Amino acid sequence: MRELTGKVAVVTGAASGIGREIALACAREGMRLVLADLDLAGLDATIALLPPAGNAASAAAAPLAVACDVSQADSVERLARASFDACGDVHLLFNNAGVAVGGPVWAATIEDWQWSLGVNLMGVVHGIRSFVPRMLERGADGHIVNTASVAGFISVPGSAVYCASKHAVVTLSECLLHDLALAKSPLAVSVLAPAFVDTGIADSARNRPAALAATNPLAGPFEARMRRATRSGRLTAADVARLTIEGVKEGRFYIIPHPVILPSIETRAREILEGRTPTSPMP
Ligand SMILES: NC(=O)c1ccc[n+]([C@@H]2O[C@H](COP(=O)([O-])OP(=O)(O)OC[C@H]3O[C@@H](n4cnc5c(N)ncnc54)[C@H](O)[C@@H]3O)[C@@H](O)[C@H]2O)c1
Repeated sequence: MRELTGKVAVVTGAASGIGREIALACAREGMRLVLADLDLAGLDATIALLPPAGNAASAAAAPLAVACDVSQADSVERLARASFDACGDVHLLFNNAGVAVGGPVWAATIEDWQWSLGVNLMGVVHGIRSFVPRMLERGADGHIVNTASVAGFISVPGSAVYCASKHAVVTLSECLLHDLALAKSPLAVSVLAPAFVDTGIADSARNRPAALAATNPLAGPFEARMRRATRSGRLTAADVARLTIEGVKEGRFYIIPHPVILPSIETRAREILEGRTPTSPMP
């Protein structure tokens, strides 16, 4: 979709980080916004940052903020219904909400798995199930952007749960692309795969449900490393959002904002092709 002005974007995880910046970037394109998150105060803060309406580029109707837990199918279904009821259409869907946990895989708790797969994987599944049939019914152009991570292409020590969830998002997105092509649909798909970005991701536990609170007892050093790595990220969330919108306009499937990570992906692919034992991508 080259022209975004006047179209409707839905962003999950819009209360913070990359989702917030994607919302701001879409607003600058003159899009109408539906912003979803568990964190309603954060959504209000995002809305307060939106450019004022009044000129041709930003004359979109007021944004819609929707409380939504992407790990719950019925919650995402309500989001889809609210979006289509309020805006009549959805053109650009960002399945972006996500959380991160760390620690050696043998000590990861069942709750680590349930929470991470519930948000990172099932959140995207629910977005696809609730929005894509409605978008297909319209038969018009549209674009779905699923946020994975470079952890969807490489296997990072201490990050098995996160990597498994993000690898699943990558293959799910590739399968969605193929399924849409088979159905001769004009809908486009991208998978966004950033490396480290300074956002709220290292404090993901702020959104963790009490029922799934049991964490990996060996997570400490791994999560501290993640915090240091995200703080030293070379790109900001705003950079990632800008590159994502560029990727959407160019119709690019793989949006990998940090080219510095490409050699690690190549090494992994070569190790598979050559039957070699994997080396760690971490120095
Ligand atoms: N920051 C990074 O280094 C990095 C790198 C690669 C990929 N990502 C991915 O980017 C996406 C955005 O993360 P971020 O870095 O902006 O982190 P963030 O913590 O700043 O933002 C994530 C947002 O998701 C929301 N959220 C969490 N659980 C939710 C749920 N169940 N339902 C609805 N909303 C929920 C949070 O409230 C928050 O607003 C995630 O999918 C993350 O895995 C981040």
